[in-house]
Amino acid sequence: MSDGTGKPRPEIRGDILFDHIRTLALIGADPLGGRTRLTLTEEDRKARDILVKWMKELDLDVRVDRFGNIFGILEGKDGGKDSLMIGSHIDTVIHAGPYDGCYGVLSGLAVARAFREAGCIPGRSLVVAAFTNEEGVRFQPDMLGSLAFVGGIPADEALSVKDDGGTTVGEALSRIGYNGNEEPGFLIPSEYLELHVEQGPRLDTEKIRIGVVEGVQGISWWRVSITGKANHAGTTPTNMRHDAGYAAASVSVFLRDLAVSTGTTLATIGTINFEPGAVNVIPSRAVFTVDLRDPDCTRLTEAEEKLAEFLQKTAGEEGVRISAEHLVRFDPVVFDRGLADEIEKVAAARGLSSMRMVSGAGHDAQMMARMCRAAMIFVPSVGGISHNPDEHTSEDDLAAGAEVLLDVVLKLLGD
Ligand code: GLV
Ligand code: MN
Ligand code: MN
Repeated sequence: MSDGTGKPRPEIRGDILFDHIRTLALIGADPLGGRTRLTLTEEDRKARDILVKWMKELDLDVRVDRFGNIFGILEGKDGGKDSLMIGSHIDTVIHAGPYDGCYGVLSGLAVARAFREAGCIPGRSLVVAAFTNEEGVRFQPDMLGSLAFVGGIPADEALSVKDDGGTTVGEALSRIGYNGNEEPGFLIPSEYLELHVEQGPRLDTEKIRIGVVEGVQGISWWRVSITGKANHAGTTPTNMRHDAGYAAASVSVFLRDLAVSTGTTLATIGTINFEPGAVNVIPSRAVFTVDLRDPDCTRLTEAEEKLAEFLQKTAGEEGVRISAEHLVRFDPVVFDRGLADEIEKVAAARGLSSMRMVSGAGHDAQMMARMCRAAMIFVPSVGGISHNPDEHTSEDDLAAGAEVLLDVVLKLLGD
């Protein structure tokens, strides 16, 4: 297609985008249809290598920073003075779906391809970014790569975060050869855009094609350790028990009641481990994680306080010791209003229905919002399923999201 001046207009190649998504989805694939590509593992290295190869095929200037964040730069007519960044992540949770994160990075690549194939050099540079450890499964906090990139955590602190096996981020980066040398913020874009599947049910339920994301809710992660006393399951009277397992279960019930009573707070115990872990022994120890979220900062703080009170009460009643370590605390984030308006206009111009929404999931965009104007575009997730191999978005919706992204980029970058 031409814009009337004889110049071809950049277009998204949906076929290549879908092919790239399918190719990445095979890395770390399991027989049950999911994939596990925890950050900075061998599987992550393979995915990174392919991404870098695709970036080089588009003649992007590939840079890697000290945290393993990967940037593919298509230099603009201004010689790289200013840039717009499109990004997300290619690490996954355990048994993940194919789109979470990968869709955003690969759509960024599709936008770069659109410029290259049209022979069009944008007025300012276009940067495609893949950030390290967005998911936060192996290392906490989540979104560590983008947090470090914007200077939200000192570099040495970020590199010395350890996984459960004692390996640091710095060691894991060296092992897979992605310990680059660019310093945090070596490049400061003027805008950051992230395209992502919604991962929740709203767009699919309301049959709306595009989510204009106005912000991200707050996140609070904890590791709770309960120490009781191991004893015989068949001989210890209930009133003589110091049962770490029972105490952990009561926290789980408390959190569900808290979520129901507030209506906005979400609470999840996603991991739990009992010791000694035998059918006929009262647990002497329970260690579990708590994920609390709320779009309102005050309500999130209240949920944290209520949890702390409940832990103290339970410790007294069951005669156990309870300690809670705060792993992550990110306040809710509001995205740039002008960019959200632009996304809404572009969707309308393409005849796509849209709605404003707040993201339930965490995203690199919430870190980039500390550095520059940032916004996100969502497309529907069928049944609202994500962090699950059944995560699905139709090709029509994947293409529509990438086209909206391209149109916003064309408006912002100029030529
Ligand atoms: C990232 O997927 C999150 O936990 O929100
Ligand atoms: Mn994601
Ligand atoms: Mn995720």
